[in-house]
Amino acid sequence: MQISRILVIGGAGYVGSHFSFFAMNNGLHVTVMDNLSKGHRSALHCSEFVQADLLDYDNFMKLLSNHKYDAIFHFAASCLVGESVLDPAQYYRNNVLAAFNMLEAMRRTGHDKIVFSSTCAVYGHPVKLTLNEGHPKAPISPYGRTKLAIEWMLEDYNVAYGIKSAQLRYFNAAGCEPDSGLGEDHRPETHLIPNVVRFVLGLSNELTIFGDDYPTRDGTCVRDYIHVMDLADAHLKACAKLNSIPVIRLNLGTGEGFSNLEVVDSVRRISRVNITPNFGPRRPGDPAELVADASAAKRDLDWKPSRSNLDSIVTEVIKWFSSWPRGYPN
Ligand SMILES: NC(=O)c1ccc[n+]([C@@H]2O[C@H](COP(=O)([O-])OP(=O)(O)OC[C@H]3O[C@@H](n4cnc5c(N)ncnc54)[C@H](O)[C@@H]3O)[C@@H](O)[C@H]2O)c1
Repeated sequence: MQISRILVIGGAGYVGSHFSFFAMNNGLHVTVMDNLSKGHRSALHCSEFVQADLLDYDNFMKLLSNHKYDAIFHFAASCLVGESVLDPAQYYRNNVLAAFNMLEAMRRTGHDKIVFSSTCAVYGHPVKLTLNEGHPKAPISPYGRTKLAIEWMLEDYNVAYGIKSAQLRYFNAAGCEPDSGLGEDHRPETHLIPNVVRFVLGLSNELTIFGDDYPTRDGTCVRDYIHVMDLADAHLKACAKLNSIPVIRLNLGTGEGFSNLEVVDSVRRISRVNITPNFGPRRPGDPAELVADASAAKRDLDWKPSRSNLDSIVTEVIKWFSSWPRGYPN
């Protein structure tokens, strides 16, 4: 079945807004629902916008009772690893309880397709690199545990109620669409690339690299950066695949890792500004190295990341912050 009308929950956020933009460009009718707790009105690219909180079950039931969507894309979550250690209740509420509300409303209104933003944080410390989908799941933060709990919930809801799900485990989402006014603007920002870029552009005073004593090639953490538009492409492909496979779990990454210092070096080369980062202590919940084995996604979805080159990602992020130094207007 071709999909034409979709609901994007969390579509005012970083990944969700880029996905909505991609879906609109692919001719879909896109309804975004977001409570704007973290998202930005100026990031919206959609046919219609509903400002609502997924924790409000009655309201969500009303939305799904009055509208029929061919698929639901669920990006909304609390997603700061460190914060999840300090306040797990917020994470179990806004991630697990909200997803439970969503699934309950879906099954009661006959909506049976969901594409869910999961994360490589479900794996915990790698016992073997690169990480494939069969790697043991031992998340080391409440954030990762809430995502794994939702994956289990999705599996059970398929067996019992026939709800089909694509559970996409992103590695580090990066890059943007500066020519269309779309960027990465988390507040607070914990991601390295926007933080290094803001520092070289003089938009922040301090740059801290957390940990320089990891067992990696230069002592700093190694991550796999996947472009948000490559993620968007994989979402539509995964959704189409649900017609033949009811539960899909796939890593979305490139298979190549860059250390924090290699990212800093890329920004230094492209901006031609010398950078001296401070080194701080390791952050709780940060494994040394997270690099995807994404061969299953490439094979099963016929997906080929085409925009996930580190230097071009950095160039785009510099372009976006040069145009929007304060980020999105509130
Ligand atoms: N950014 C990454 O590198 C990354 C990596 C792995 C997984 N993920 C997952 O991808 C998803 C999107 O990440 P992001 O970086 O775009 O986050 P984000 O914070 O930019 O976007 C989340 C959006 O959801 C909205 N939201 C949150 N709670 C809500 C609720 N209860 N009701 C309605 N709207 C709500 C926020 O306002 C925001 O617009 C998250 O589920 C995250 O866990 C992101």
